[in-house]
Amino acid sequence: MNPSPTPIIEVRDLHLAFGPQRVFEGLNLEVMPGEVLTLIGGSGCGKSVLLKTILRLLTWQSGTVVVDGEDISDYREDQMLSVRRKVGMVFQNGALFDSLTVFENLAYPLRERGCDDDAVLAARASEVLEMVGLPGIEHKMPAQLSGGMRKRVALARAVAEAPKVLLYDEPTTGLDPINVRRISELILDLNRRLQITSLCVTHDLPSAYMISDRMAMVAERRIIEVAKTDELRHSDNPVVRDFLTAMDSATARASGIPPLPAPEPRRP
Ligand SMILES: Nc1ncnc2c1ncn2[C@@H]1O[C@H](COP(=O)(O)OP(=O)(O)OP(=O)(O)O)[C@@H](O)[C@H]1O
Ligand SMILES: [Mg+2]
Repeated sequence: MNPSPTPIIEVRDLHLAFGPQRVFEGLNLEVMPGEVLTLIGGSGCGKSVLLKTILRLLTWQSGTVVVDGEDISDYREDQMLSVRRKVGMVFQNGALFDSLTVFENLAYPLRERGCDDDAVLAARASEVLEMVGLPGIEHKMPAQLSGGMRKRVALARAVAEAPKVLLYDEPTTGLDPINVRRISELILDLNRRLQITSLCVTHDLPSAYMISDRMAMVAERRIIEVAKTDELRHSDNPVVRDFLTAMDSATARASGIPPLPAPEPRRP
């Protein structure tokens, strides 16, 4: 029998609070190398906080976070630099620098890492823009781009650093259906072509169903269920079912199509 593979990200018994506000109490999550795992859950349940925890952009009270074999729980900022090279993040709002051109936005993190060879930077920028389907827009300013293009440039910037893992915070929110599909395909393409493990937060169920190997639901200050996409879709857990039904109705209302009936619970 094959030994079970080691998770590339492992969160164990995480307790995190902001003052009196308890966000996680005993959260556990494993992300396996090469997979696309999607996090779902209600607004304010802690999905963005969980992604930031993995990059140690926030501190927590107790619990262990292991990234690519390194326990980062007590890491200092300087020790996190090499970890953050391996784990890129596409933030909820894209977080482009509005006063810099697309090229300078893409070059910025590479310069931070000590690359100052203009030819190398230009080649890398051109390569990643090609990858996200936006060749030749190096000279544009972020304000000249549509919402979908901004998200793709943000993705290109994360990919430019050649990460092993990408954390996506709502990469499709606010986009029209064509751009939602385009970004979803891009996430899958990066996963398959470059073997980038992906942990993705989304409110968009069709996109989640399309891209995810597994899905995990955050509720009650922990992960209440994690399963293969098809299994989670047909979960017997009432909290998961209610959430999926509510999200389906919201999607249907937005598109004018009547909602699907809730799936029958699976019989043992
Ligand atoms: N830096 C912070 N300081 C204090 N409270 C915070 C901080 N970041 C997040 N919170 C709180 O933690 C909780 C979880 O926030 P988080 O942003 O992770 O929610 P979310 O699940 O991503 O929601 P959404 O789906 O709306 O993006 C919220 O109540 C939020 O107000
Ligand atoms: Mg969020």
